[in-house]
Amino acid sequence: MRIRPRRNRKSKATRALLRETYLMPEQLIYPLFLADGKGIKQEVPSLPGNYRWSIDTLLPEIESCLELGLKSFILFPAIAEENKDKTATHSYAEDNFYLEVTRKIKDTFPETCLISDVAMDPYSSDGHDGLVGNGKILNDETLPILGKMSVAQAQAGFDILGPSDMMDGRVGYIRDALDLAGYTDTGIMSYTAKYASAFYGPFRDALDSAPKENDDVPADKKTYQMDPANKKEALREATLDYDEGADFLMVKPALNYLDIIHIINEWSDIPVAAYHVSGECAMLIAACQNGWLDFNKAMPETLLSIHRAGAQVILTYFAKAYAQMWKDGKITG
Ligand code: PBG
Repeated sequence: MRIRPRRNRKSKATRALLRETYLMPEQLIYPLFLADGKGIKQEVPSLPGNYRWSIDTLLPEIESCLELGLKSFILFPAIAEENKDKTATHSYAEDNFYLEVTRKIKDTFPETCLISDVAMDPYSSDGHDGLVGNGKILNDETLPILGKMSVAQAQAGFDILGPSDMMDGRVGYIRDALDLAGYTDTGIMSYTAKYASAFYGPFRDALDSAPKENDDVPADKKTYQMDPANKKEALREATLDYDEGADFLMVKPALNYLDIIHIINEWSDIPVAAYHVSGECAMLIAACQNGWLDFNKAMPETLLSIHRAGAQVILTYFAKAYAQMWKDGKITG
């Protein structure tokens, strides 16, 4: 036998030398849920280890992430019921605490990369990402709302905006709105292939943002988020977002959609990200809490798989835990 693949696996040093894929903390984006108020650090019951933070508790948390080499954060606001309405006006209101918190984080830690969420759902009394009317989610009528939200977010200091709504034409609309307002340097990470998935449950608990049945519109997002059965359609969405000026593309969820990450990455000459969503993280946490899996082994293997499939960047609730393991030298082959 001349060829023995096991020779390349014979020691820790050879395995480390020949490893094809490395994932560094700098490539992770840490999602954080924000609440209005003071002294809040409220655990999300369906996503243990993740919290709704108020600005005073959040700043030290961000500082401890920076010390671990984790620099990128995606921020999501939990909006009080009285600030929700049909047209999501609070999303661009002067007194929206989400925008205030962003300004404060940027002032305190200018070295961070802050990413927003552009969608109506946290601010919408219907819990939908678009405007509800005539028994439908209205596409073109939603775009000006997203445009105003985007300009307000750029003004607050976000580095990158993340349109997560899946309305047609929104990347181009937002790009034009930003450019017209002078925010030519604000980037767009587009939720390109976002599926109508069952794995967003803990996130919707965290923000109290589940879609409601109303005005003949069902309590699901299937008329705008993609059908989990479809793959070609992901390339169609990717082509559009690319042509409309997205700076990078994102696939969501990640684990059940590794094939989508792969084909978009093969096709694209701009970076590809994947969102390892709340339900995917919750499954692993639950198995580890039961003693069925070892977190320190299963978690890095999971993130590595998403990276190996073609995601250069990963959004994950495990970002901090991974960065801590990396710092402690525990991520090895
Ligand atoms: C909302 C949004 C959702 C997520 C990110 N942005 C939920 C949804 O589409 O209903 C889900 C993220 C997660 O589950 O971790 N536009």
